[in-house]
Formats: sequence, structure tokens, C-alpha cells
Amino acid sequence: MSNSVVQPERLDRTLILERIAPLWREKLTNLTIETSLDSTNSALQRLPVAERHAAVILAEQQTSGRGRRGRQWHSPVGKNLYLSLGWKFDKPLSELGCLPLVVALSAARALTRSGLNDHRIKWPNDILLDGKKLCGCLVEMHADARGACHAVLGVGINVHMPASVADGEIDQPWTDLHSQLPDCSRNTLAALLLEELIDHLGLFSEKGFAPLKPLWKQMDGLEGQTINVFADSQTHRGIALGIDEDGALLLDIGKQVLTLHSAEVSLNKATPG
Ligand code: BTN
Repeated sequence: MSNSVVQPERLDRTLILERIAPLWREKLTNLTIETSLDSTNSALQRLPVAERHAAVILAEQQTSGRGRRGRQWHSPVGKNLYLSLGWKFDKPLSELGCLPLVVALSAARALTRSGLNDHRIKWPNDILLDGKKLCGCLVEMHADARGACHAVLGVGINVHMPASVADGEIDQPWTDLHSQLPDCSRNTLAALLLEELIDHLGLFSEKGFAPLKPLWKQMDGLEGQTINVFADSQTHRGIALGIDEDGALLLDIGKQVLTLHSAEVSLNKATPG
């Protein structure tokens, strides 16, 4: 039987929890696996605020998986990883600008620990392999009246994405983990992702992004590349210079260096028309 027809194992709460080292596992407050729901981010947001911190929801299928900028996240049943983690920060939103980068870094390191090489982060929080999308992150936050911030951190990783679902539906080049690592386990990947998230979120809460910036730099897939960036209704073409201390993208457009906090990056080599 070829690997392509082997069914991925089902998500299993016991296996995931067993595969998380105790130091990190004890920080989780809840972990649930649903067969089908609209979106794991939405499901976490429906929990009372007091129950969200360090709670995890995974699903075998999302019927309305959400991506950034209002895009759909294709979430076929039993194939990929759809995971959301709630996290509370005792900081204002203004100090959490790097959070999407922290989530992407955690996912990238979980993929490395799974055995993957050569994947890189496309700022702010896509993970690409050979220029094709493997993983996306969706960070949603709100501040409460006391000044705390409640974040829902959603990660989608294409593990066994069927071409029959993706082709014609996903409007950008995509890839999946199984095509690189035929023996990859969704349960192990979920455990690694949670270890990395809990570790990095703890550090980020305590010390900010500075200690994580060198790790980000190792995984930065844009630095030194000529890229097209769409921001504030304008397209800029320039050389990516990495990120500043707030996680903003630095883009050298010749006459000046732009500092971009929110933008859409395209690796398309052609000059924008
Ligand atoms: C993107 O690249 O546009 C972000 C995709 C994020 C997808 C994940 S899957 C788990 C969580 N639930 C959602 O509805 N979205 C995120």
C-alpha cells in the first residue's frame, strides 16, 4: 500500500497529553478534541473568559475555518491539524504586537522537532516550504476593563491535505507535512506545538520579544530577499531587512527604509504592475 492512501491516525487526547513533557503539561488547564465544529478559534472564544487561559481546542474538521484577512482556511475532516490555545496577558495590547511572530516561531520549531528542514517563516506568521504554504496562524485578541488581554492563538498545519480538496480551492501554492515526512503523527505534532507555544508564551510574557528575536532571525524566510509588499493601499518593492524590536517588517526601498506593522507580503519575483 502506498503511503498516500494510509489514513492518518485519529486525534487522541490521551496520546497528546502523554507526549507533552510534564513541565509544560501542568500549565494546560484543559484540552478538548471535537469531531467537527465551525472554527477552533471561535469555539475558544465562546468559552467564558475565565476558562480560556491555557485551554486548548483541537478539531478533526472545521466547517468555517478562518484565515487572516477574512480568508477561509480549508479544513477537511481527519487530515490536518487545527488547534487553538487561549492565553491571558497582564499587559496592554500595545505591548503584544509581536505575538503573531511568537506563535509562528513556535509552530516553526515544532515542525523542526518533527524532523522537517528548510521551512521558513514568511512575515508575519505564515510558514512556507519551498515557497509553498504549510502552516498559517490566526491571532485574535481583546483587552478587558482591567487592562489584561485575552488572546486566542489558532494554528493550522497542512498534514495530509488531499489534492482533491485543495486544488482549485486554495488560491496560493500549498504543501503538506506528510509529503516530506510520511510517518508524521498529528498527535505528536500537536504535543510538540503545545510545548513550544507554552514555552515561548511564558518567555514572551515575562521578558518580551527580545530573547526570541535571534530564534526568529534563524527562521526568517524573507531577510535579504527582494519582495513585494502591499500596505496602506500601496505596493512597495524592496529588500527585506528583517524585523525591528516591535516585530515590524523593515523594507529597504532604496531611498528609505519602511517600517511596516501590517502588510501583505508577496514573494512573486515580478515587478508589480
Ligand atoms: C492564515 O494563514 O490565514 C491563518 C490560518 C489559521 C488557521 C487556523 S486552523 C485553527 C484555527 N481556527 C481557525 O478557524 N483558524 C485557525
